[in-house]
Amino acid sequence: MTDPSEQAGPSQATPAAPSPDDQRPRPPRRVRVHHLREAKERGERITMLTAYDAPTAQIFDEVGTDVLLVGDSLGDNFYGYPSTIPVTVDEMIHHTRAVAGGVRRALVVADLPFGSYESSPQQAFDTAVRLLKEGGAHAVKFEGGRRVAEHVRLLTSSGIPVMGHLGFTPQSENTLGGKRVQGRGADAAERLSEDALALQDAGVFAIVLEMVPAPLAARITEILAVPTIGIGAGAACDGQVLVWPDMAGLSDWTPRFAKRYGRLREELAAAARAYNDEVRSGTFPDDEHSFTE
Ligand code: KIV
Repeated sequence: MTDPSEQAGPSQATPAAPSPDDQRPRPPRRVRVHHLREAKERGERITMLTAYDAPTAQIFDEVGTDVLLVGDSLGDNFYGYPSTIPVTVDEMIHHTRAVAGGVRRALVVADLPFGSYESSPQQAFDTAVRLLKEGGAHAVKFEGGRRVAEHVRLLTSSGIPVMGHLGFTPQSENTLGGKRVQGRGADAAERLSEDALALQDAGVFAIVLEMVPAPLAARITEILAVPTIGIGAGAACDGQVLVWPDMAGLSDWTPRFAKRYGRLREELAAAARAYNDEVRSGTFPDDEHSFTE
């Protein structure tokens, strides 16, 4: 997606003209939800990564990642939980605060964790308000189609941007029978498309499609005006998201759809091994890393 600072368009506020003497670098313009819709209209792909802490969020922000998702995947990726289900609202708030505090450009979206929104639109509203007020999120995401349309309507009409999440929805893995591709077969595909349209009608600004056959994701992307963000949903989606430890090669296991762009696990192990060796052999600390007076 083009940097909003470089876009000229009717929906962009005109930045204050810098004085010719002012040499300070201008901060990048914040990605807003309407920029994502405009990117879809221009046919520009949107990039999204998960982030759970300040240093990684700053790196992803600096390299121009458009959206940072404080996903409840922090449960299985950082807390060592068996799934996303044990993640609490307080944990989401801690991590959202760490991410939102450090980024200058990216849109920060926080997940509503399992059990914090399903029972009523009011419950979803109360949790979302905490993530915005206490966590500093710019938007929230939660799982589900028509069953949460009223929840989406209440939040968006109250000024809280909502991202939808369809297909394989990890919080329902116990009813879905594990991590399985969703929307296979004509009936399931029809239900998924109707869910996507219902979420759009309720006001979401984008929809994550997880583990959906690529042709179905392409069809949903075509019928929606709001962008789709795919994860295991093929190349036709308007954007892509990956869980960052999968993307950077920190996880010891990655799903088939997640490409590794780095070898962080090996790099970190090599660094820790070298440190252990040098401490044990007495070569660290040397004079360069000591205060000699
Ligand atoms: O929690 C998460 O990381 C997510 C992504 C898989 C989209 O919801």
